[in-house]
This record gives sequence, structure tokens and C-alpha cells, in this order.
Amino acid sequence: MKRKKRIIIAIDGFSSTGKSTMAKALAKKLNYAYIDTGAMYRAVTLYCLDNGLFDGDIVDEEKLMQVLPAITITFKPNAEGRSETYLDGRNVESEIRSMRVSDKVSIIAAIGFVRREMVRQQQAMGKKKGLVMDGRDIGTVVFPQAEMKVFVTASAEVRAQRRFDELRGKGDTTTTFDEVLHNVTERDRIDSTRAESPLRQAEDAHVLDNSHMTIAEQDQWLLDLYNSIVDDN
Ligand code: DC
Repeated sequence: MKRKKRIIIAIDGFSSTGKSTMAKALAKKLNYAYIDTGAMYRAVTLYCLDNGLFDGDIVDEEKLMQVLPAITITFKPNAEGRSETYLDGRNVESEIRSMRVSDKVSIIAAIGFVRREMVRQQQAMGKKKGLVMDGRDIGTVVFPQAEMKVFVTASAEVRAQRRFDELRGKGDTTTTFDEVLHNVTERDRIDSTRAESPLRQAEDAHVLDNSHMTIAEQDQWLLDLYNSIVDDN
């Protein structure tokens, strides 16, 4: 059998659409590398929190600009083969998912020089192709030439319900559905209206609305799309 061409797969979309779950599953199936770019913005945010660069919601941008080139963010698979995030050699996978970081990450992700540095690193990771990358600006800014672009969406209510179920599953019994819904719509607003690389659908992206799809159905949808693209190349 002819060896299939290795391509770049860009998966963008709103928060809580299950982008990373589907991106990871596809990367595993194709034996591709997987990069979670949200984790990179989260790691920079954690660095700022731990090094006193935040004063409330204000970041010391001058200091951040000085230290950013020295901050290293890497990904390494754990014992089960799942990719985990390292900040300056330290495993920060669980810390970057905490509310402390989630509350501040959109501030860091809106800073132009931070985005330019992250995009530079992300482009370097794609040199060898064979990569699935998920984020907000992958198909528009990082890899506008990606062979496969997917834009994932689902209704705000469905996404809030998924987050709400996840929180209840983790033992959170106090956060209400309305609070989660508010947080989801607020993040949509911030992500789509910021001046630097706002979340928007690339013209040549394939839209996946997974409001009423099971995980198995969306995995199959992605695989069918991948096959149609590589068979044409
Ligand atoms: O996907 P996530 O929730 O881990 O993303 C965290 C934050 O980073 C979120 O506010 C959106 C932002 N982000 C971004 O601006 N560009 C990306 N390529 C990835 C994430």
C-alpha cells in the first residue's frame, strides 16, 4: 500500500466543544503529533502568576517581554502515552487547568507579543508535518496553508451542559448551570472580539457542529474528512 502523505490538521473553535478530545483521538489514530496550543497560553499565565507579574488583572508587560524568550514550554507523553505540558522542565499539566489559571488566561492570550512568540514556536513544531494542532487561530494565523482545517462549534447551552456535567463529576456541587452558561458565553465574546487574532472561521474550514453528535460519530466524521483529503492529494 502506498504510504499516505503526512499533512497538517488545524482544529479551531469555541471553548468546551470537545476540540482537544477529538484532536487527540485523531492524532493517536494517525500516529501524528498532537499540540494543544491553549496549554501554551495557560503555561505562560501560570509563569506570570507564580512570578508576581500579575497585579489583579493587570500584567507587567514590560517584564513579561523580557522574560518570555527564556520561558520554555514543551510537551512529553506520560506513561499512558498522553501528552503533558512542561514549563521550564516542570510538569504543570494539572496546574494549568486550575481555575486560578483559567480566570487569567484570556488576558495573556490577548497580548500581541505573547501571541507572536507562541505562533513562532507552533510553526516550528509543524515543520515536519504529521501534526494535529488545536486552538483558536491555527487555520487562520499559525498554519493558513494547513491541508485540513476544521472549525468546531456547538450551541452555548449544549457546551454549558457538558461543562456542568464535568464539574458535577469532579465533585463540584455548588456551581449552577446558569453560572456555567454565563462563563461559556463570556469566553466566546472575549475570544471572538479581541483585537489580536480573534477566533474566526477560516474560509476553507470544514464546520463541525457537534451539538447532537456522539464522540464516536464525530471521530468518524473527522476520519472520513481526513481520508477524503489525503486521497485527493
Ligand atoms: O483551549 P483552552 O481553553 O485551553 O484555551 C485557553 C485560552 O487560550 C482561551 O482563553 C483561548 C486562548 N487561546 C488562544 O487565544 N489561541 C489559541 N491558539 C489557543 C488558546
